[in-house]
Amino acid sequence: MPGLTIGDTIPNLEVDTNQGRIKLYDYIGDSWTIIFSHPGDFTPVCTTELGIMAAYASKFAERGVKLLGLSCDDVKSHNEWIKDIEAYTPGSKVTYPIIADPNREIIKQLNMVDPDEKDSSGNQLPSRALHIVGPDKKVKLSFLYPASTGRNMDEVVRALDSLLKASKHKVATPANWKQGDPVVISPSVSNDQAKEMFPNGYQTIDLPSKKDYLRFTNV
Ligand code: BEZ
Repeated sequence: MPGLTIGDTIPNLEVDTNQGRIKLYDYIGDSWTIIFSHPGDFTPVCTTELGIMAAYASKFAERGVKLLGLSCDDVKSHNEWIKDIEAYTPGSKVTYPIIADPNREIIKQLNMVDPDEKDSSGNQLPSRALHIVGPDKKVKLSFLYPASTGRNMDEVVRALDSLLKASKHKVATPANWKQGDPVVISPSVSNDQAKEMFPNGYQTIDLPSKKDYLRFTNV
């Protein structure tokens, strides 16, 4: 099913949240924003995920990143559910807004539908989708998990750090990279350009092909 994906501009939807009505572009402003969906309120995996997001809120805030949840129930339900989430994750407050989508309209427009998951009335439910949206309102990265698999929020932070790094420098992050590790220089950067761009130098890995494409640096 075609839908919103990496590189697409998200629609400027006007949505109801437990913190009032917002327009997505106004909320995002000039920030990076993580929009993450959940199959439903008062469900076990979602309760753990929203709790971890609340516990990690300071990690996102220190990176200047905004959070915006979504679950297919109404605002009244969200407000009741938040009490459970905060009780399950002591010391954490759900300070980010959660979109209400009782008519399942927003999940279609944000490509967050799980085709296999239905509620007791046969209505489609959201997948565990997560879009990292740049200040330009474009999707930079998407996670798409089924309802049965809770997300690893450390991986969300790690992927976000990679995106932020690559947005500032002509670099990419290798497998299992984490903040502080060396990064690789983008293939589009020539060795002459690399000498100028990375004055602290870089290391070229000696490979059997003798091609010099694997270049590590620190930024
Ligand atoms: C959950 O959050 O635990 C869940 C929600 C819908 C289907 C399966 C699991």
